[in-house]
Amino acid sequence: MTAGAHIPVMASEVVAAIGPRAGGHYVDATFGRGGYSRALLASAPCRVLALDCDPAAEGAAAALGRDCGDRFRFRRARFSEMEDIAADEAFAPADGIAFDLGVSSAQLDDPERGFSFAPGPLDMRMSGEGPSAADLAADLDEHRLADIIRRYGEEPRARRVARAIASARSEAPIRTTDRLAAIVARVVPADGRIHPATRTFQALRIAVNDELGELDLGLEAAERLLAPGGRLAVVSFHSLEDRAVKRFLRERSGDAPGGSRHRPPASSAHPTSFRLLHRRAARPSAAEIAANPRARSARMRAAERLAA
Ligand SMILES: C[S@@+](CC[C@H](N)C(=O)[O-])C[C@H]1O[C@@H](n2cnc3c(N)ncnc32)[C@H](O)[C@@H]1O
Repeated sequence: MTAGAHIPVMASEVVAAIGPRAGGHYVDATFGRGGYSRALLASAPCRVLALDCDPAAEGAAAALGRDCGDRFRFRRARFSEMEDIAADEAFAPADGIAFDLGVSSAQLDDPERGFSFAPGPLDMRMSGEGPSAADLAADLDEHRLADIIRRYGEEPRARRVARAIASARSEAPIRTTDRLAAIVARVVPADGRIHPATRTFQALRIAVNDELGELDLGLEAAERLLAPGGRLAVVSFHSLEDRAVKRFLRERSGDAPGGSRHRPPASSAHPTSFRLLHRRAARPSAAEIAANPRARSARMRAAERLAA
């Protein structure tokens, strides 16, 4: 995630984990405003293929293309599509792939995108396509809404929130962020730490963009695309994402709970395809958090592709 001035989070840790080398081919799966792409390109005379589903990323990508010529390619696409795109762009197999999950500060800070509590349309679509958060708030039945808010927002009062949304929309459609925030705030007590609607907004955003489905597909695509010895680095910002990355890497490295470090569990459905670079997630430094408070919840997990 980037701050207002597009400060990429844990960029030096990501570059160190990926270890770019001259002539290598790297994929920045979540271009945003290009912090990781720039850092990778600056670290070695390598090439970078960047993806982002947001049309608003195209301006920064065009600028980087002007600076770096054919060392840099950008495609507007979901990262679940990276294999086909990498093949098309002659980037397969890749020597390293970086993910910086979630929304960018540019998306978060623009009230028109509907990701924050600032008054604006209840949109939340990173790609600008498909059903918006307002559509989900209008169309999902109360049980499904409660399920999404519980599962993706980990909101303990999910049923109450879903009931409040269903009751409010029967009076008038919920089309704005501030109206939704006010509806949720009436049934979720403020704890003084986060806005009462934070978990509900997170849940709708994850559902609108199918973030966890994309993450699973993106990690599997990265596994197939990486060359033996290639590196994967994933920065996540909330526990649901981090758990999915941790589960994937533990399973693929034969380090799933109950397994042995020396012998993958017999029940493992996958050959050991990764070696963890470190067992625990790396955290941003205190200096980075002080300079960019949005970095505080970041976690990076990294692994090296094995030949399997
Ligand atoms: C946290 S930001 C990345 C910031 C970037 N590292 C930088 O330095 O500017 C995440 C970006 O990933 C994009 N994104 C999220 N999910 C995506 C997906 N499934 N496919 C492609 N892009 C995605 C978002 O549109 C957003 O621009």
